[in-house]
Amino acid sequence: MIVVRRISSMKLLNSLSTAELSRYFDVIPGIEPLKLPVAHQNLVTLDCLRLDKAHPFISGNKWYKLKYHLYAAQAADKNTLISFGGAHSNHLHALAYIGKCLGLKCIGVVRGEPGPTLTPTLQDCVDWGMELQWLSRKEFRDIAEVKCMELYAERYSDAWLIPEGGAGEEGVSGVEALFTRLYQDGMLNYDLLACAVGSGTTLAGLVNAKVGRAECLGFSALKGDFDLERRVERQLNKTSHVNAWQICHDYHFGGFAKINSRLTDFISDIYQSHDLLLDPIYTGKMLFGLSEFMHQGRVKPGARILMIHTGGLQGWRGFGDKSPVFQ
Ligand SMILES: Cc1ncc(COP(=O)(O)O)c(C=O)c1O
Repeated sequence: MIVVRRISSMKLLNSLSTAELSRYFDVIPGIEPLKLPVAHQNLVTLDCLRLDKAHPFISGNKWYKLKYHLYAAQAADKNTLISFGGAHSNHLHALAYIGKCLGLKCIGVVRGEPGPTLTPTLQDCVDWGMELQWLSRKEFRDIAEVKCMELYAERYSDAWLIPEGGAGEEGVSGVEALFTRLYQDGMLNYDLLACAVGSGTTLAGLVNAKVGRAECLGFSALKGDFDLERRVERQLNKTSHVNAWQICHDYHFGGFAKINSRLTDFISDIYQSHDLLLDPIYTGKMLFGLSEFMHQGRVKPGARILMIHTGGLQGWRGFGDKSPVFQ
């Protein structure tokens, strides 16, 4: 049973604290069965953790990756949040909305050059009060380096910097806290937990949560980013045993945010037949990969699998009328 409290019903949107926001977004997400024929044929039980249902703007893994950044910003007495992302970034979108709810100044540093019009994602960000700054792709790549983050920290001494995608120690801790709680609530009785991978923050948090016997399987949304394993490894708890994990690099469909008709047909089919809308950048590719694993007999008969729906549905707006909702 999912507990959803609509934030739009609140009167004083600009006067909330992080703790109050937590009460709205620390939801107990629902788990629903996903009766794919391929799972049935392979005697596999497949369920879906519907983090996407939490809220239209702060859905999926977003709240959990941002929550401890917000507490840290508060503790450090910072009144501005700065983060980084692309023109369709789910992360900047969620952050802008949170900034509006908390009445905090937010700066979104966007990869690329400004076009004649803003993407729907960035338009929302601006409407919610986020200031946008643009960085060339080359400069943006350097952001990943601590040196560049330091540069922003120097320029904005009153700001809390959040790495792209809500990554970092705080992001990992938020995801870990969620899955630890779900495990303690007895909701994670699975052999395999599957999630999409961008920065690897969600996967690292999941693995750190020590989720019983389950193996954690990430599907990378990036093409050939074989450094991901090292980046996830670096964020794992060194002092205690963590669950087995691996990243599959085979279902990026040509690269980050690249799609083709095979993928969109698959997503449409899942939407039409199972009433489950996946996003085209992360969760659609993950479930495609997971289905292939079952087709190929790479999942043991009798296994129980939980796929984690990490949201991202607003991202469809960057793909024109390709969303299955319009078909
Ligand atoms: C919808 C969605 N799913 C999955 C991910 C991947 O999460 P992570 O960056 O924690 O690996 C992202 C990126 O933030 C995302 O927006």
